Amino acid sequence: MREGGLYVDGTFGAGGHARAIAERGGRVVAFDLDESAAVPPDLAASVTLVRRNFAELGDALDGLSLGELDGALFDLGVSSMQFDRPERGFSLRFDGPLDMRMTGGTGDTAYDLLATLDERELADTIFAFGEERAARRIARALVAARDANRLPTRTLELAGLVAGVVQVRGKRERVHPATRTFQALRIAVNDELGSLERGLDAAIGRLRPGGRAVAISFHSLEDRIVKRRFRDDERVRALTKKPLIPGDDELARNPRARSAKLRVAERQP
Ligand SMILES: C[S@@+](CC[C@H](N)C(=O)[O-])C[C@H]1O[C@@H](n2cnc3c(N)ncnc32)[C@H](O)[C@@H]1O
Repeated sequence: MREGGLYVDGTFGAGGHARAIAERGGRVVAFDLDESAAVPPDLAASVTLVRRNFAELGDALDGLSLGELDGALFDLGVSSMQFDRPERGFSLRFDGPLDMRMTGGTGDTAYDLLATLDERELADTIFAFGEERAARRIARALVAARDANRLPTRTLELAGLVAGVVQVRGKRERVHPATRTFQALRIAVNDELGSLERGLDAAIGRLRPGGRAVAISFHSLEDRIVKRRFRDDERVRALTKKPLIPGDDELARNPRARSAKLRVAERQP
């Protein structure tokens, strides 16, 4: 990190990373599309929060006329604050509406997708974004429920419907059978993979030579996009051939980091 340097935090959340950069003397332009994201008063001098999708960071930075970036960071996915609020609809462990919008207010909800996509589109979405082998059967069950006016409107209802269709892969499977379906809907609702492609491209385009892009991903679809971009984009050189993963100490403190993978790339001269 460079004191006085300019950094983008693409995923402000509760501001932990932005705070760490600010405390080391960096200036931060932070992005979060959640309407409830807010900069605490003690960070106001060094952090500017833009409530937009990080996919639009190029336009947003052009509007601020700040010059080249020393670094850009993406800590992908939903925050604990979002995940732990039942009314946001992200968790299949709490009862809530099938919402899943990271914005908290605008755009189609997960329920809207279930109510409007045809069977094939539902199956393709659940297969592509959830890597769910039972996607066709789940889509069929959803459409049957919809035709009978019993389409789930709540997270627990959807989790129950999917669990009734998906065979548990074996005693060793620890995740809930609806986890992959929930992941798929969340990715589709928020266009997470498209945003990631555009955000990485825009961030790399604005790095100074030697500036670094860092991405922390939480599932294989995201990690594949980051890995390919850092490997194939001629403007950068990947500094991590293999992703960095959390050690035992970090996992003991933060079990939600268990699937985190961190990759770094450096802008070429
Ligand atoms: C895992 S949390 C980040 C936590 C943060 N690093 C911290 O220290 O608190 C991800 C955050 O990024 C936001 N987010 C996810 N995708 C986004 C996107 N495409 N554009 C802007 N914000 C996004 C979410 O709303 C969420 O608040």
